[in-house]
Amino acid sequence: MREILIAKDLYKVAAEKFIEIANDSIAKRGKFTVALAGGSTPKALYQLLATKNLAWEKVIFFFGDERNVPINSVESNFKMANETLFLPLNINQNNIYRWQTELETPKKVAESYAEKIDKFTQTFDLVLLGMGDDGHTASMFPYSMALSETKKSALENWVEQQNSWRFTISFPTINNARNIIFLIKGEEKSEILRNVLEGEFRPERLPSQLVKPENGKLLWLLDENVAKLLTTYGN
Ligand code: 6PG
Repeated sequence: MREILIAKDLYKVAAEKFIEIANDSIAKRGKFTVALAGGSTPKALYQLLATKNLAWEKVIFFFGDERNVPINSVESNFKMANETLFLPLNINQNNIYRWQTELETPKKVAESYAEKIDKFTQTFDLVLLGMGDDGHTASMFPYSMALSETKKSALENWVEQQNSWRFTISFPTINNARNIIFLIKGEEKSEILRNVLEGEFRPERLPSQLVKPENGKLLWLLDENVAKLLTTYGN
């Protein structure tokens, strides 16, 4: 099931949805497992969530993707979430599963993370995603090898466009989630978003089109600027 929600106050709605899913997961299963998005868009969401009441000790954090950088790099998705969310909420380190980018090779980084996911959870309660202006999501970039992964839960991905390695959970893992939320804003992404949501199905070129939960819910949470070219809303 796909829902498109255009929010005047994107982060307020995003925080409400996050807390709602978290409370439901905790009530049903005693914990809430979430794969956080990286990049710049979710930063304000994490800052807002750090002011919210929730049984944070019952939240288990993973990352949908990571860059091939040390954790103290300004590029690190872990660093951004640590500074905006984990430290302000004093989250127990044992509840944070980050990509160990310090391991010797990209393959070892990815294998160790896939092991963590496989051991801890088969199904994320929430996968939070962003979308790049090229239609990528997590670190699934156009025409990259990871798009076709059907077995592993997480893997390394060579990104030609950036001449660098990236780390990403796979589409089977994303699409196995109970809830998926795309958090996207900005006029500069309005055309690519229209192509993803209303254009031809071209997943190699528009990897975000491969996000299709098997049984879970998919919410496209958009600001008015990014949604301005859309002609159809709703499921
Ligand atoms: C990353 C992300 C990536 C991000 C998009 C959008 O590591 O960069 O996980 O998929 O969500 O690139 O990034 P912005 O939010 O910065 O536009």
